[in-house]
Amino acid sequence: MKNVIQQLTEAFGPSGFETEVTELISSMIAEHVDELKTDVLGNLIAVKKGSQDGKTIMFAAHTDEIGVVVTHIDDKGFLRFGNVGGVGVSTLVGNRVRFAGGTIGVIYQEKGSWKDLTLDKLYIDIGAESKEEALEKVKLGEFGIFHREFTDLGHRLIAKSMDDRVGCAVLIEALKRIEKPKNTLYFVFTCQEEVGLRGAKTAAYGIEPDLGIALDVTLTGDMPEARRMEVSLGKGAAIKVKDSSIIAHPKVKDLLVELAEDKKIPYQMEVLDAGGTDAGAIHLTKAGVPSGAISIPTRYVHSPSEMVDIRDVEACVDLVVALAEQDLREF
Ligand code: CO
Ligand code: ZN
Repeated sequence: MKNVIQQLTEAFGPSGFETEVTELISSMIAEHVDELKTDVLGNLIAVKKGSQDGKTIMFAAHTDEIGVVVTHIDDKGFLRFGNVGGVGVSTLVGNRVRFAGGTIGVIYQEKGSWKDLTLDKLYIDIGAESKEEALEKVKLGEFGIFHREFTDLGHRLIAKSMDDRVGCAVLIEALKRIEKPKNTLYFVFTCQEEVGLRGAKTAAYGIEPDLGIALDVTLTGDMPEARRMEVSLGKGAAIKVKDSSIIAHPKVKDLLVELAEDKKIPYQMEVLDAGGTDAGAIHLTKAGVPSGAISIPTRYVHSPSEMVDIRDVEACVDLVVALAEQDLREF
């Protein structure tokens, strides 16, 4: 499973340009699903059919990652850029970006901008000596990602874009383990989550699920001087109570807790005061879809070095499998 996480987190997929990631996922899951399709916006939808009286469950994990977009190139060949999704300005200086064509650059700041650092005080240096040379390497409007390799620390793993490739890895692993599910399962690898839960919105509209579950990262409260939050690395799958996009449906939240208790899967409750997930879009589809989320506890979310614990990731896989195989006729 670590190998899958490594391949996914090292792939290129800023919002709107997720093809490299969806093609990689397709190749990993093709033989384990009944149907596989890509929709207009770029969601990858995998279907695994259940028994006749089962329910339809939509699982969503997003394939896109935060990044940058080139807004201006000056005469000396330096790039100015905007954010793609929620980029933390304090994580940028000295970090590297990679563009689709492979060009790598370093982000640095204008003199005297330490205090009140804002995006417009930063530039990207791709080693070009003129505007003409820069234009041979990147185009105006080109999207880039943070350039970092995957690192294995044992139980803990560091990579860029754990948000949300680790969620994709959970779904991929679950797909491989589920043989004959009771419920019909839609595993949706959604696009454009980081810019406003966009892919999940159209996917859910098309699927009309009975139940919606997002798999995504959540914050933790276990670092020095951290925010006060009852989620820690290594303490299990996090079952969402709320975030700023959704209040998990009580029936869904309780069902997940019950399953975790029954199957002795380590879990913790997640109350997140800021941030959203695809469940926020799914639950507002058509006349409403009871929805919730299984979250992977993650440190340093939206930095180029996001950290997860493989034991939590495995607990999330177990919970997805348990839900897929649960008799939900009474739900
Ligand atoms: Co995110
Ligand atoms: Zn995410």
